[in-house]
Amino acid sequence: MEQLVRAERSIPLGSQTFSKSRTQYPVGISPLYAAKAKGAEIWDLDGNKYIDLVSALASVTLGYGDKGVEKAVKKQLKLGVSMSLPGTLEAEVAELIVEMVPSAEMVRFGKNGSDATSAAIRLARAYTGRDHIIVCGYHGWQDWYIGSTTRNKGVPDSVSDLTHKFEYNNIASLQDALSNLEGKIAAVIMEPMNIVFPEPDFLEQVQKLTQDAGALLIFDETITGFRFARGGAQELFGITPDLSTFGKGMANGFPLSAVVGRREVMMEMEEIFFSGTFGGEMLSLAAAKSVLERQLVGGICEKLANSGDELAARTGAIITQNELGNVLQLSGHPSWKFLNWRPTEHYSVDELKTYFMQQSFQKGLLVLSTHNVTTAFSAQIIDRTINIYGAVLADLTRVINESSLRQELKVEPLKPLFRVR
Ligand SMILES: Cc1ncc(COP(=O)(O)O)c(C=O)c1O
Repeated sequence: MEQLVRAERSIPLGSQTFSKSRTQYPVGISPLYAAKAKGAEIWDLDGNKYIDLVSALASVTLGYGDKGVEKAVKKQLKLGVSMSLPGTLEAEVAELIVEMVPSAEMVRFGKNGSDATSAAIRLARAYTGRDHIIVCGYHGWQDWYIGSTTRNKGVPDSVSDLTHKFEYNNIASLQDALSNLEGKIAAVIMEPMNIVFPEPDFLEQVQKLTQDAGALLIFDETITGFRFARGGAQELFGITPDLSTFGKGMANGFPLSAVVGRREVMMEMEEIFFSGTFGGEMLSLAAAKSVLERQLVGGICEKLANSGDELAARTGAIITQNELGNVLQLSGHPSWKFLNWRPTEHYSVDELKTYFMQQSFQKGLLVLSTHNVTTAFSAQIIDRTINIYGAVLADLTRVINESSLRQELKVEPLKPLFRVR
């Protein structure tokens, strides 16, 4: 709390990242700042330890402080971080991505997922000579995307007007968007999957409609890449888009993202401007090389899926035991499971979720709305998580049955925030 007061004196919201701020972690029940993290655990400033199901917003896949990544980064630190000429690591990491990702014939790097998605959009506009974009999911903080959400303050209407939405697993919504803007769509950009699996043929139909419209298909694999499969959701579902973007788990928490795609489209990069001082920064590339070399050997995504599956199955059993099936359901890929809440007769989703967070944090589990597992989720960590869930969900059943949730909630419930998925 003291740290929040201090931080807010010099930092609006007290955090650089919306999803790590007090907008997501209610003040009074939440740990607000991290002291350190190791493996599957994180410590707050008061020395409290939590099992961390957030995993730095899914940017960590091998666990915090992975030895191989640390060694590679330390070695590179001695050679240089940013120099006046590009290093060889750029091509080395690009080659690893080309080897693993079906759509990747060429690669360019950025720092955040938003760099990669925005570069992909500019590239698609340059390649097609068209301006309009159709989106599905979350694609970062830049004007072209965030202008299409309710948190669009500061984005000119003339920019927002170029972005249109469609719904996942609703092919008619894409058909509508395309037919309203015939000949004007540069790209359809989507998360290939988030909350639920694609219905049979959905992604195939998206690809066909996009191709027929003369637009480029972009998969935003910022989260799914190097998590669902080493070649991303595109490998898992057997659909190769024109362009794809990666970020998060590529470098186990180091800031690196990539836009990749067909050679013919990617060569247009030489004509547009996508360039940054730190695009080839070498500590992140060294981290990525270490992560991707291990991905190439195989087994990492399988491990994520197996531990995610076990965690979800055992959580599901506790939900059933506590007769909470109408209140809480899990969905999605085992490596990135979503916790979906439904209101009860007396309590809103925000009330239920805040109480759930309060009890989880109190018992040493850091969880928001997804299970972002890492390879550090050992059998022992999963057992401990399940024990905590057992107690938390029993508490939840009790306060619902006794109608005492509001009395037992120590803070005001979370406020509804802008939804992107
Ligand atoms: C699917 C997706 N795309 C893009 C982004 C933006 O990435 P970043 O926050 O690194 O800019 C995110 C971040 O959560 C994301 O989940």
